[in-house]
Amino acid sequence: MEKGFNGQKYEKFSQPQQDWGSKMMDELELQGDEHILDLGCGNGLLTAKLTERVPEGKVVGVDSSPSMLKQAEKHRADNMEFRLLDMENMIIEDKFDVVFSNAAFHWVKGHYVLLRTVHGCLKKNGVMRVQFAGEGNCTNLIGVLKEVMSSPEFSSSLSSFEWPWVMSGTSEYEKLLLSVGFEEYRVWMENADRNFPDEASFVGWIEQPSIVPFVSYLPEENATLFRDVVVDKAKEVADQSDGTYLEYFRRLNVHAVKK
Ligand SMILES: C[S@@+](CC[C@H](N)C(=O)[O-])C[C@H]1O[C@@H](n2cnc3c(N)ncnc32)[C@H](O)[C@@H]1O
Repeated sequence: MEKGFNGQKYEKFSQPQQDWGSKMMDELELQGDEHILDLGCGNGLLTAKLTERVPEGKVVGVDSSPSMLKQAEKHRADNMEFRLLDMENMIIEDKFDVVFSNAAFHWVKGHYVLLRTVHGCLKKNGVMRVQFAGEGNCTNLIGVLKEVMSSPEFSSSLSSFEWPWVMSGTSEYEKLLLSVGFEEYRVWMENADRNFPDEASFVGWIEQPSIVPFVSYLPEENATLFRDVVVDKAKEVADQSDGTYLEYFRRLNVHAVKK
């Protein structure tokens, strides 16, 4: 079975991410000449939208997945550049007016290092505007994943597996922002519960990107079974009487200014 991120498939099933990112972008105040960094830019659709907002500026999209960046290349415009980098360990020389990130920071373990890098690459009065999974996000799917992981079929293969996501609370994040030098910030948790309209959109979202770290870790013979069991149980838990599938999304939002 396919194990890594698949940029093309992600694009088809990433309506939730597109909705959150578009909303965040609509609220950004831009003059049109800003230099913007999009961290964890994925398939580049939002990066392309950002680029339209800054015709006299430039957008740099960073992602660690070659497949995501291959898809992103399809949306490339003149004032847009993609870089294959791990945002947690990257060295970035440029200075930006805005650092934007949608649905990506929770995939990174070391937020202190990440935020220090973001602070370092912002210009004076530059803005960091990011949104990602926060405390309490996806309790339906996470409950199912934990149950299946601990079942006899998978517990030994996954005994050394590192949980892939960090989902922080607001006060914890405020402390981190202060510790790297941000003095002006607003942090809030957004309830973005969602009814996926049908099975295809719900299962597509589980497969790309949610289940990727788990099946990537498992040996081939176990990966397909893990996917099948998780999808069946997740459908059972999320199924609503009107044919939709419910997931509880809690998104941590940050607006911080470098002084
Ligand atoms: C859910 S996708 C979001 C993509 C895009 N921002 C969007 O909203 O559609 C998360 C992205 O973060 C990327 N990512 C995860 N960890 C990363 C890291 N350490 N450095 C760079 N990108 C990372 C993944 O490859 C993936 O493309």
